[in-house]
Amino acid sequence: MNNENILVTGGAGFIGSELVRQLVKLSHVNVINFDKLTYAGNLENLKSIENLENYTFVKGDICDEKQLAQVFIDHDITKVIHLAAESHVDRSITDPLLFVRTNLIGTASLLNAAKIYWKGDYANKLFFHVSTDEVYGSLEMGSELFTEKTSYDPRSPYSASKAGSDHLVRSFYHTYQFPVVISNCSNNYGPFQFPEKLVPLCINNILNNKPLPIYGKGENVRDWLYVGDHADAILTILKDGQIGETYNIGGHNEWSNLDLVKVICSTMDDKLNRPKGESEKLITFVKDRAGHDLRYAIDSSKIQNELGWTPKFQFGEGIKKTIDWYLSETEWLENVSSGDYKTYYENQYG
Ligand code: NAD
Ligand code: TYD
Repeated sequence: MNNENILVTGGAGFIGSELVRQLVKLSHVNVINFDKLTYAGNLENLKSIENLENYTFVKGDICDEKQLAQVFIDHDITKVIHLAAESHVDRSITDPLLFVRTNLIGTASLLNAAKIYWKGDYANKLFFHVSTDEVYGSLEMGSELFTEKTSYDPRSPYSASKAGSDHLVRSFYHTYQFPVVISNCSNNYGPFQFPEKLVPLCINNILNNKPLPIYGKGENVRDWLYVGDHADAILTILKDGQIGETYNIGGHNEWSNLDLVKVICSTMDDKLNRPKGESEKLITFVKDRAGHDLRYAIDSSKIQNELGWTPKFQFGEGIKKTIDWYLSETEWLENVSSGDYKTYYENQYG
């Protein structure tokens, strides 16, 4: 019999589904995927594993205390990996309260549900909170990196709500000796990412010959990590991470938005047999995002030195793999981007 019943929240989203697909390969684990299926959650992402015996899907809301209590009882949950969140900065600018509800109230409700169910017996229990490097704020251009000791300085409703959720998780550790661990990861890219985020948005728009909206001058810098490497880091922390600790996860892979989009353009030209430079013509500079953070970059030496994790994918390889996936899964792309779906930019200015 499997001896770990792991509740993954947000397992139908981009990173959550990658994690679930990796987690179900562990024979001693039952995975219970608890997801509300918002616009960002999609059970198609789990088609390849949905019939496995050690996988169960439960539709539910992390803000609903009754549903949470029930899932803990029904599945005798021993560990939680919490990814459910509203995750897009642009949406947080138009609807900040939704982010407070899901990311703050939701995380508090989940912590409380685990606390009630575990009744102070924390042997072999774990509450793993998956967070973002955006809680640290914005770096100047240069070589400074976010470490686990960098003070929090969130600057968007999204990052503020994630920062608040991290504080709640730490408060449970200090107040109740609750068995928590936190990871803060940089920007992810890879298959199954909803095409409102920069990388899949560009791939989708190039396919459809639509403009590629670059906020401001495209100078802002992000540290990009392949999603499979993020899931691998989460599994590493799950296995060897120390209770009460925080681990930064990043790719040492900084790109300005403009340079990143140019790489996507040239790779797409190759793949689509378009003349060199064709896709770049779609680049369109648009009004900057309000409060746009200049630079994020992660120092991941703690997880590398203490737990032996390093990213496996070089950026060139990861981006080709990602583009190949979107080109072979055009139906997925069409399904998620049909109906009333509009990108943030189209909603504001389209
Ligand atoms: P996503 O938006 O693709 O998926 C979020 C998932 O959460 C969806 O399946 C959605 O249905 C579910 N969800 C939303 N509200 C819910 C609720 N109230 N109850 C239950 N489920 C709900 O997000 P993602 O990009 O996969 O990010 C997952 C986590 O990782 C988030 O916590 C995010 O803050 C964090 N993170 C993301 C990145 C990134 O680059 N995408 C980087 C670092 C950390
Ligand atoms: P995004 O994928 O939204 O991630 P985050 O804001 O969490 O870093 O955006 C990545 C970068 O790309 C960010 O600096 C904003 C920029 N961006 C654009 O220039 N145009 C776009 O259409 C989008 C969605 C993002």
